[in-house]
Amino acid sequence: MCGIVGILNSKSLKSDAIEILKKLEYRGYDSAGISLFSDQKIRTIKSVGKISNLEKKSKNISDKFFSGVIGHTRWATHGVVSRNNAHPFANENLTLVCNGIIENYSQIQNRYKEIPKNIKSDTEVSFYYLSYLIDKYKNPDEAIEIFQKTIRGNFAFVIFIKKNNCFYILKNGSPISISNKNQSFYICSDSSILSNYHDTIFHCEDGDIIKINESKISYLQKKNKISFQKNISYQNPYDKGNYQHFMLKEIHEQPSVLKSTQSKYTSEYFIDFETKFRHLFEVDKIVLVGCGTAYHASMVGEYYFNHFTNKEVSTELASELRYKKINKNKQILYIFISQSGETMDTLMALKYVKSMNHKSLVITNSLESSMVREAEVTIPTYAQKEVGVASTKAFTCQLLSLANLALELGRMENSISNQIYKKNINLLTKLPSKIKKLINEFTPNAKIISKKLSQANACYFIGRNIAYPIALEGSLKLKEISYMHSEGFPGGEMKHGPIALIDKDSITVCLIPNNDLFEKSVSNAQEISARNGKIIILSSVKNMSKINGEIKVMNMPKENIIDTPFIYTIPLQLISYYFALSEGTDIDQPRNLAKSVTVE
Ligand code: F6R
Repeated sequence: MCGIVGILNSKSLKSDAIEILKKLEYRGYDSAGISLFSDQKIRTIKSVGKISNLEKKSKNISDKFFSGVIGHTRWATHGVVSRNNAHPFANENLTLVCNGIIENYSQIQNRYKEIPKNIKSDTEVSFYYLSYLIDKYKNPDEAIEIFQKTIRGNFAFVIFIKKNNCFYILKNGSPISISNKNQSFYICSDSSILSNYHDTIFHCEDGDIIKINESKISYLQKKNKISFQKNISYQNPYDKGNYQHFMLKEIHEQPSVLKSTQSKYTSEYFIDFETKFRHLFEVDKIVLVGCGTAYHASMVGEYYFNHFTNKEVSTELASELRYKKINKNKQILYIFISQSGETMDTLMALKYVKSMNHKSLVITNSLESSMVREAEVTIPTYAQKEVGVASTKAFTCQLLSLANLALELGRMENSISNQIYKKNINLLTKLPSKIKKLINEFTPNAKIISKKLSQANACYFIGRNIAYPIALEGSLKLKEISYMHSEGFPGGEMKHGPIALIDKDSITVCLIPNNDLFEKSVSNAQEISARNGKIIILSSVKNMSKINGEIKVMNMPKENIIDTPFIYTIPLQLISYYFALSEGTDIDQPRNLAKSVTVE
């Protein structure tokens, strides 16, 4: 994870670096640092915690006599959170920052006596190693090449060496892009941020070593010229408007982003589906892959494909798929779901299935991402930038993408009639206004439920069929932003073990849509209530007279299978948000997390 910035030849080195680091905070916020440099001097400032601490610490430092800056915001992997382990690592001749993990750092550390044995950070080991190589080889280019050949892992490095006044960018696996105008360069691990600075961009590729010497940019190993493309500009997503948190803003943005995603799909993306997609779906099986919330979207996708098509379909966690044997004899289409398009586990799983000659499709919110560059076909979600660490609008847009895909495939292979297809597309088109009403109407209830949660020790979520992944998602949302202990279960599984957790201090949120499993889901709720567990039921069925015990029923709008996951997600997002608000946690940047998980 971590975020990197580098700026060369700009009038506002320090303030731009801090500004960019603030935007990169979603990649980690354990510690941060900057190094200002020139051919005379390197000056490094580091602090623990958020960028605001670094900003305060560097307030009185002038950048007047420096030609460049590198900066870093950290999500700790190796080595505790401390000022020492914060990047950049620097001495009087060298400064560097890294995003990623150097897998063979301990072998390197053990091999060279010049590297202290008590250091724990893989980047610090790399720093000592490079510093040793620079001393050993007269030409720093040679040192950099040997360094790159020796280190193993997924990483992006930005390095300044005073000896030759050169700046280097190394990439293997982790994203890093450069924007340029005249003599000035901005380097960043999130290319979308760069559009605010310069209008041309270059995305580094794996294996690249780029060298910038004053204003001359070139590959270190290759002869070709680096070709910059036009940079697309984005709306400023880093403005909370009148909302207290990005998460709440993003929850409220769902009606509009769902509307624009659906209208893009109906007006252009899925038009002529057969010509565009038939080749991709001529397979024996579909496997949906993701991590965290995106995995829950995959699970919903499995129910959609199962319901609307005749294809065999299953779901995999990307971090598990990477290390599984894959059936080579079957033709499989792997559909990868990722908001960021950069999640290392998902990216590596994508590379893995490609190497096994299987087909791949990526559903992502980030069109500039590494996954887009790898995949055969990309289906964009139009959720716009999601800043809050807890995924909300990106998740519902992923669901929309999967719903459309399942309907299009079902119609193409005649597993659903034209009438059913139209009815469901119509439901999806009406969804944004339904969601808008639901957000407004459910907000007071979410506040009431959040008060109840503060009296509980644990909160469980149960659901069956297509509501089951939503129970998992509700639980993930709650635990990640409020830190309350929470689990999600399929309702039918409770009696096979988890019901042992139930006591009077627990609350279970039961998702009970009006479908074939309604009666069974009510029984599951009843079984919990019979063991003194407190129950909150979310259901579109108005009259639940059979239910007794300490139970609160919240009415949901009428649903069909296609809109069930959306309808039941919204209340859970709001409950988590208002509960976390009352707990006083850092909602947009919860502890130990980062928005984009670019390490394994
Ligand atoms: C939870 C959350 C994470 C991400 C997961 C995958 O709210 O956001 O669980 O869903 O890290 O991230 P992407 O979708 O970027 O691959």
